[in-house]
Amino acid sequence: MASKLWEKNVQVDGDVEAYTVGLDRELDLLLAPHDVIGSLAHITMLQSIGLLTADELDVLTRELRDIHRLTLDPSFVIEPGIEDIHSQVELMLTRRLGDVGKKIHSGRSRNDQVLVDLKLYIREQIERVTAAMQRLFDVLIAQSDTYADVIIPGYTHLQVAMPSSFGLWFGAYAESLVDDLTVLAAAYEVADRNPLGSAAGYGSSFPLDRDMTTRLLGFRSVNVNAVYAQMGRGKTERIVAQAIASVAATVGRLAMDACMFSSQNFGFLKLPDEFTTGSSIMPHKKNPDVFELTRAKCNKLQALPVEITMIVNNLPSGYFRDLQLVKESFLPAFDAIVSILDMTARMLSGVRVNRHAADDPRYELMYSVEEVNRRVLQGQPFRDAYREVGLAIERGEFRRPSRVDHTHVGSIGNLCNDRIRALWDDVRSRMDFSRAHAAINSLLGISE
Ligand code: ARG
Repeated sequence: MASKLWEKNVQVDGDVEAYTVGLDRELDLLLAPHDVIGSLAHITMLQSIGLLTADELDVLTRELRDIHRLTLDPSFVIEPGIEDIHSQVELMLTRRLGDVGKKIHSGRSRNDQVLVDLKLYIREQIERVTAAMQRLFDVLIAQSDTYADVIIPGYTHLQVAMPSSFGLWFGAYAESLVDDLTVLAAAYEVADRNPLGSAAGYGSSFPLDRDMTTRLLGFRSVNVNAVYAQMGRGKTERIVAQAIASVAATVGRLAMDACMFSSQNFGFLKLPDEFTTGSSIMPHKKNPDVFELTRAKCNKLQALPVEITMIVNNLPSGYFRDLQLVKESFLPAFDAIVSILDMTARMLSGVRVNRHAADDPRYELMYSVEEVNRRVLQGQPFRDAYREVGLAIERGEFRRPSRVDHTHVGSIGNLCNDRIRALWDDVRSRMDFSRAHAAINSLLGISE
């Protein structure tokens, strides 16, 4: 049999084939289980509209469930000469079942197949990213609570400014993750619509029951318009990439702080030796390479939405092979962000905090505003207090006040981490992965 789903009597040039298939034979492995799940929904629907008999559906379902199991095994491959996962699954079915296997492609195209595969993959991967974000969030809140009272200087313009604390610092990144999760939840909602049935991008003359496949796959809704369903390719990936980029921006910034704070010139943080790397020439070095790589990886992820935009920008409506290229950088982005989140959680759980960093006299002046405010509370007008303290500083007579007393919401003395956690829980509770799980288990015949 021809190795292409579309090959008739002319064999395609070998170089053209290699060029057009590109990395699909490896990358599509990530989509493999989802491709089978999409097919399970599609054939169930085909039987309901009379395009398959009940017996055919039975045997196809049984074989597809078995193929699904194989796709999860590390030994699963797209065979040499086979273009992509869609062709591989159909080939396996046809080898096992003969003509019945050839019936499943009625009413669909690889264009809507890959669309639905991507959406199922995205749903699964966003759930994974959410769990990794949760792990880092928990570490950040725990560390914020533990080091709530440890004062460090806060900076503006990288100049010593006002007292801050490790309670504030850790908690700030926890709250940043809340906003990132909000964006990720929105991206999930965009991905949670069913493109199946849009076929090549213009629908089908078969009376496809698209609401049925939507239900079977546990999508929140259908992508209604067939042309728009196809236009969602590239757009969905960009939106999801923007959410990943948002998480990466948070963690990249944290990594930069951590590099700086662990420099001897700051000395606020110290990584345990086993988390640092050495130098081949300088025997004393213990470098924060993990945070440096995290910073660079996070920057790379922030380039992803731009990269996707550059691939798909100004494509007219309809399918184009350009879209295939999006998979190359998009699919691996999930592993990248999950490993970044997990490594950061690990580093921050082990990090040692210098409880006495702020005792260094070079930070004395960060208390200048405390002193101004102390005078204002005793009745002195702000501008006079400001001036007097300023002059005292210039004369070298400034002495820090004995206590730092910040009480408002979100300040050193009143972190309100419980409120940050409540914000997290609120966003998280609006993300519902259970509909997707239940639908897929049911397609696979797994009872919960
Ligand atoms: N590998 C292709 C992609 O990712 C699958 C769809 C192929 N469709 C086509 N009309 N050539 O876009």
